[in-house]
Formats: sequence, structure tokens, C-alpha cells
Amino acid sequence: MGANPTSILVTGGAGYIGSVAVERLLRRGERVVVLDNLSRGYADAVPAGAVFIQGDIADRDLLRTLFREHAIQAVVHFAALALVGESVAAPELYYRNNVIGSLTLIEEARAAGLERFVFSSTCAVYGDRNPVPLTEMAATGPINPYGETKLAVERALEWLRRAHGFTYFALRYFNVCGATAERGERHEPETHLIPHVLMAAAGESDAVPVLGDDYPTPDGTCIRDYIHVEDLAEAHILALDAPPEASGPYNVATGRGYSVREVIGAARRITGRPIREKICPRRPGDPPHLVADPKKIQETLGWRPQHDLDSVLRSAWAFKLRQAARQIPK
Ligand SMILES: NC(=O)c1ccc[n+]([C@@H]2O[C@H](COP(=O)([O-])OP(=O)(O)OC[C@H]3O[C@@H](n4cnc5c(N)ncnc54)[C@H](O)[C@@H]3O)[C@@H](O)[C@H]2O)c1
Repeated sequence: MGANPTSILVTGGAGYIGSVAVERLLRRGERVVVLDNLSRGYADAVPAGAVFIQGDIADRDLLRTLFREHAIQAVVHFAALALVGESVAAPELYYRNNVIGSLTLIEEARAAGLERFVFSSTCAVYGDRNPVPLTEMAATGPINPYGETKLAVERALEWLRRAHGFTYFALRYFNVCGATAERGERHEPETHLIPHVLMAAAGESDAVPVLGDDYPTPDGTCIRDYIHVEDLAEAHILALDAPPEASGPYNVATGRGYSVREVIGAARRITGRPIREKICPRRPGDPPHLVADPKKIQETLGWRPQHDLDSVLRSAWAFKLRQAARQIPK
């Protein structure tokens, strides 16, 4: 794909994961067009080498022009609303943005003759009664509208594959974290653990909220599978190169779980700061143990994570210190 005049469309490329994936695509010599409505992203997060178009994935006229003028050859679709609590409070917003928006994008991509679509899915598509580690065969059964909207798009993509031979890769991310030198998590509001841990380390909050310490796990706190955003970006590159027969859903995870307390302990060691915990009530719908079996992506796409929890925390802490020193925007 490297040396031709076609481009890759990255939706949501002004967001956390999308902007890191754009960095990676540019590094391998791709031309990249970013489409983002900036509802949750930041124009200054879009890497300089990409063409940035501010607009919505549901804007058909814009999509038609964009597919025509930029000779788009594949779509990597990150754009979505992704806050579980917000999706419970306003499900209609999530269905419109994530389902109708994605369907519009898929239809226009097909109309433009595209045959490859990489979709940001999530472990939230799984039901909460599966044994861990989760394989892609585990029962789906989202417990919130956010997960439902992602599963709806996955299902549409699978039916399009059967009907039209449309090649798609639905990458089911587990807990994404870490940063590059320039880009990291800037969610507002921030709901993810590692940014909260580092906010406490930086003195921006008094303590890390620990949402329940009475789960049936060794230290009572929830266990999650943490994946570095750079390893995740690499999974997208592999999906762009994979043969059409490999089309389908993939867990993107390490297979190794860490409890909330283990993450906080590692962050104390890496930052050298005392990080206080504040025990809070459980959050409804949080399973005690969420870890994936990454065998399918390892064997089919050849994906191997290069980072561990320490390197996640080191990179995210370096990003935070640069933000605090105002070397990069907050
Ligand atoms: N962060 C995680 O841990 C995680 C885990 C699983 C899945 N995901 C998925 O990964 C993707 C990226 O997540 P993120 O953490 O980078 O989120 P983010 O909010 O930082 O980025 C999403 C981007 O999409 C843009 N966007 C939203 N709706 C749009 C629309 N209708 N048209 C154009 N742009 C639109 C936003 O402005 C934002 O820049 C999402 O699809 C999310 O569901 C994230």
C-alpha cells in the first residue's frame, strides 16, 4: 500500500486512539485523510502530515466528495461516542451517532467501490456471563446502549460481508491506555482508570476512586486487560494488510489481567509519587474479571504486543508531565 497515490480515510482521527493510528499510518508512508466533527476530539491532535476535514460521518454529500477527491482505498473507522454512562442516559444519541452514522459511512464507502473497512469495536459487545479469558466465540450480550450500538454495526458488517463480499475487521479493544510522545488520553469527562491514577499522582486530584473493593478477585478490585495504544495502532495496520478471508471480529488484548490495586501499585513505583485511593461504591455492570484470549489475532494477523503495563504507565506519565509543563496541549 505504501507507494501509491491513494489515501486511507481515518474517521475520529482527532480523538485519542485515532490520532495515534494516524501517526503510525503516516510513519509507514500512507496518505491519510482524517474526518472528525470535533465533538469529542481536538484539531491539534491530528498529526501534521494528514489532511484534516472537519465534518460528520453522517454527511453523505461530504463523504461522496471526499471519497472522490482523495481516492480513498480503505476506511479505518474510530469515530463514535464512547461513554457508557452517557449512552444509558441518552441512548438515542448513541444510536444516531454510532449506528446511523456508521451505516451511512459504510454505504458511501461501498458506493465509492471500497472493499475494506476496519471498525473500532469493544469488549462491551460481550455478555457478562462468559468464562474468562474471552474468545471471539463468547456470547455477545451488551449490558448498555454503547455496547449495543457497536454490536449493531458489527452485525451489519457481517451481513454485508455475506451479501457483497465486503471485507471488514471489527477490532474489539479491551482497556486502551498509554501514549506516544505527542498524543495521549484527553477525554472529557475522563472515565478510564490510568488517567485517574496519574491525575492523583500529579496532584490534580486527592485520590484515585476505586470503584468497589469487594469483588471476588484476589485483592477485591476489578481485573482488566490493558493494551498500549501503539500496539493497538499496529493491529489496525495488520488488518489493512490481511487477506479478505480473514474478515471478522478480533479481540485486541494481551491476555494478561491486572487488578485496579496492581495498576495503582505499579504507578506508585513508576511515578515515585504517593497515590492515595478512595474506596467508592461499585459501578453497575462492571464484571469482576475481564481478560481476553488474543490467540485469534496473534495467529491470523500475526499481532504481538510490544508493551507491558510498566511501559503503558511510563508513556502515559511522560505525556502527563509534558502537558503539565505546557509542552503539549491539555
Ligand atoms: N478508549 C478505549 O479504551 C476504547 C475501548 C474500546 C473501544 N473504543 C473505541 O475506539 C474508538 C476511539 O475511542 P477514543 O478513546 O479514541 O475516543 P475519542 O472520543 O477520543 O475519539 C473519538 C473521535 O470521534 C469523533 N466523532 C464522534 N462522533 C463523530 C461523528 N459523528 N462524525 C465525525 N467524528 C466523530 C470525536 O470528535 C472524537 O475525536 C471509539 O469508536 C471507541 O468506541 C475505545
